[in-house]
Amino acid sequence: MWQGNYMCNEENFHALVSDLDYPMFIVVTASRGERAGCLVGFVTQASIVPPRLVVMLSKLNRTCHVAQSSDTLIVHFLSNGNLDLATLFGHRTGDEVDKFVHCEWVTGPKDIPVLVGTRGWIAGRILDRFDAGDHIGHLVEVDEAHVEVPGSPLTYQTVRGMEAGHPE
Ligand SMILES: Cc1cc2nc3c(=O)[nH]c(=O)nc-3n(C[C@H](O)[C@H](O)[C@H](O)COP(=O)(O)O)c2cc1C
Repeated sequence: MWQGNYMCNEENFHALVSDLDYPMFIVVTASRGERAGCLVGFVTQASIVPPRLVVMLSKLNRTCHVAQSSDTLIVHFLSNGNLDLATLFGHRTGDEVDKFVHCEWVTGPKDIPVLVGTRGWIAGRILDRFDAGDHIGHLVEVDEAHVEVPGSPLTYQTVRGMEAGHPE
């Protein structure tokens, strides 16, 4: 008979999830002349038809603040060749540095920067937002999708040692 502990235990939960592996993304948005973007692991496909994603943004991040007054997110799919880009967007905060002067980008839908050299990207309208705790969930409808540079996906286990630009 199982005699474990039924209590929810944050440490055990952390031990279980920190060994998982999943793809990494850079989410970029812009609003009222401000642009922002950060490295994000909490992204999941939410619907096939229509194509939709859920994107979780930490309330502490500048990207989350800018996203609250934007109606569109651009989600970049990263490859192992994008480690420098991942470090720029995950280890630095837009509160202290303009990340977009340190990387190559072009102007995309709704004047939002599209980063150059990723596996590809989607642009999508934010259909809904929900408060998930320390993150805000964004339900995003994929309006356009672009496949760019081939490469194997950058995953969480490769970057899990990276210190986030904003403390979690
Ligand atoms: C491995 C890793 C995973 C991360 N996952 C998320 C995430 O899912 N959502 C999020 O909002 N921030 C996530 N972050 C944190 C942001 O990328 C980081 O705090 C960034 O510096 C915030 O930049 P900003 O303040 O310019 O938005 C992650 C960071 C790392 C290193």
